[in-house]
Amino acid sequence: MYKLQFKPGFNIPEIVNKFSTPLIIYNVSELNNKITELQSTLPAESQLLYSVKANPNPFIINLLNQAGLGFEVASVGELHQVIKLKIPPGRIVLGGPIKSKEAISSGLKNHILSFNVESEQDLQNIISAANQHLNISIRINPDFSNQSSQLKMGGISSQFGIDENNVIPLIRKYRNDININGLFMFAGSQFFEAEKIIQNTSFLIDFAEKHKEEFSQLDFLDFGGGFGVAESSGQSGLNMNKLRIGLADLFKSKKQFLDKIKYKFFESGRYLTAASAVLVSSVLDIKYSKGKKYIILDTGINHLGIRQLDLKRRKSYISTVKEYDQYSPAILTGATCTPIDIIQSENDFPDVAVGDLVLINNVGAYTATLSPYNFCGFTYPAEVLADTNGDISLIRERGEVETSCGSGY
Ligand SMILES: Cc1ncc(COP(=O)(O)O)c(C=O)c1O
Repeated sequence: MYKLQFKPGFNIPEIVNKFSTPLIIYNVSELNNKITELQSTLPAESQLLYSVKANPNPFIINLLNQAGLGFEVASVGELHQVIKLKIPPGRIVLGGPIKSKEAISSGLKNHILSFNVESEQDLQNIISAANQHLNISIRINPDFSNQSSQLKMGGISSQFGIDENNVIPLIRKYRNDININGLFMFAGSQFFEAEKIIQNTSFLIDFAEKHKEEFSQLDFLDFGGGFGVAESSGQSGLNMNKLRIGLADLFKSKKQFLDKIKYKFFESGRYLTAASAVLVSSVLDIKYSKGKKYIILDTGINHLGIRQLDLKRRKSYISTVKEYDQYSPAILTGATCTPIDIIQSENDFPDVAVGDLVLINNVGAYTATLSPYNFCGFTYPAEVLADTNGDISLIRERGEVETSCGSGY
């Protein structure tokens, strides 16, 4: 039942001997596989943007840059991270529901490719800061709802984008003040049906074609994505072949219109990075309380953040390094001093012993950045990178205990 999902081709206990736990191991081969897989699924005439929010790790950003991806950033922090890593500004798009003054001025100063605008206020803020030619895409919140995504961001009432019927009036109102030359849509994250992603893409193409006369020059279409990653053995993943064929057919049928559009973007975070990392933890204690068994690990809510909500439901995230003959119901917890630090509730779990290793898989996206790692004075785990030869290097030191209760006071 608890198969090793992460087969890096190297010896995890050996790595742990050197770097100790809790430890995040990134697998470059896995990351490369995902980049190739997604790039070869999307139409050749489109470009892929990496959503930095999934994981801003500089090593990941550098690898994606080498693969020729562009970058979608959603804050001044993410913008500075990619600028610092020498990502060409012509491959950076700035999004986010409302951009800070700092983000706007840094985006302008660095001549990034484009701003994805999400409200009239957002647009006005950019207009009042801009004294130069820049590219603006308007994010549409469509009227139709594609109910299948797990994290809906469009087709519903939300803080994201501009309701479909307000998009054209907004463009008319401001098109003499600023160069609005793109449209963007991000309907949600975790779509598992290829048809839904194809429908979203098709909607944006149709909308753009219908309203093309509203733009002096329509240069950008950003279709978003939301490419789903299966998170348990019971869940079937996104059918990439179906997606590839569907998108290719769609692009072919709209070729005449799309050929005139310079940039045709898709965005992805999770699909690219989720499977590339595993969190290795040690069993610190095994105890029984009022008839229930507890396995306490040296990782928990402080490293897994909101992923814990998924983990409780989806046991296949978790695996072990060794094979075990015996299983019994157990509650897996972290070691922080809060009753909400539950990693997995009463499923059968291998009869591990104190000191054994437990692996939390798929932690390459929305884990490190969505975790309160200093909670309770705990620290961030060390991170190592396994390159394509299996060579291991330390890429991030373990957090310091001295600053774990905050610094700068
Ligand atoms: C605007 C935007 N683009 C891209 C993404 C990345 O989504 P995913 O990680 O599902 O690919 C998100 C996620 O919230 C987003 O809000």
